[in-house]
Amino acid sequence: MTKIITIASGKGGSGKTTLTVTLAARASKEAKRVAIIDLNNDQGNLSQWYLIRGEPENPLLFDDFGDLETLLSTLRRQRYDWIFVDCAPGDLDLTESAIMASNAALLPVRASAFDAWATEAVTEICRRRKIPFAFILTALDSKMKTLNAHAVKNLSVEGPVFRSGTSYKASQINAVVAGKAGFEADKDLRPEADAIFAELKSLVGGARG
Ligand SMILES: Nc1ncnc2c1ncn2[C@@H]1O[C@H](COP(=O)(O)OP(=O)(O)OP(=O)(O)O)[C@@H](O)[C@H]1O
Ligand SMILES: [Mg+2]
Repeated sequence: MTKIITIASGKGGSGKTTLTVTLAARASKEAKRVAIIDLNNDQGNLSQWYLIRGEPENPLLFDDFGDLETLLSTLRRQRYDWIFVDCAPGDLDLTESAIMASNAALLPVRASAFDAWATEAVTEICRRRKIPFAFILTALDSKMKTLNAHAVKNLSVEGPVFRSGTSYKASQINAVVAGKAGFEADKDLRPEADAIFAELKSLVGGARG
């Protein structure tokens, strides 16, 4: 059954594309058909990553898609295992179209109040469209334990928060510009990629297929 995951946030730079890359690379280790969709193609970070990666078949990129709903139903019919949709922060209409067609939405958030406040527009879409969602903390500095714990506490009021997040590491940044996911370049990042993917599977486990 195809699982469509939209990675969305109302704030730029929250870690959407870096997380999309991690999820797509991690999913493609065990699934034959993974698609990634760049909804932020004015900026095109995901498309740039895909080009540098060597334009693989798995994960396969779609960046010039015309109608999103049509593309997603075609990919469902073609029995893709996973589809990851990387959103643009400023286009809530397109974000809503993606979320509506998804099994779940993942909302990357940095551990700060400004970032937490900026989640409201996307959580409101998920609630109104009755799509399961979860927050995931990104670029976590392990030295800032109190700040991270506060972020989890505050976000928990608005919705579920993944126990795993992405840690703040130079290798996450460097890997992506080399066409890799962080965990492919740095083995220390493998446990967190595994944990995030496992939590994602649980999130969509109970969702509609
Ligand atoms: N876990 C991480 N550790 C270190 N840096 C990170 C991490 N995740 C993201 N970054 C860095 O933070 C910046 C923003 O990340 P990214 O481009 O993934 O966010 P985005 O939400 O896709 O941004 P946009 O809204 O512009 O599309 C980038 O410079 C990226 O390299
Ligand atoms: Mg991006």
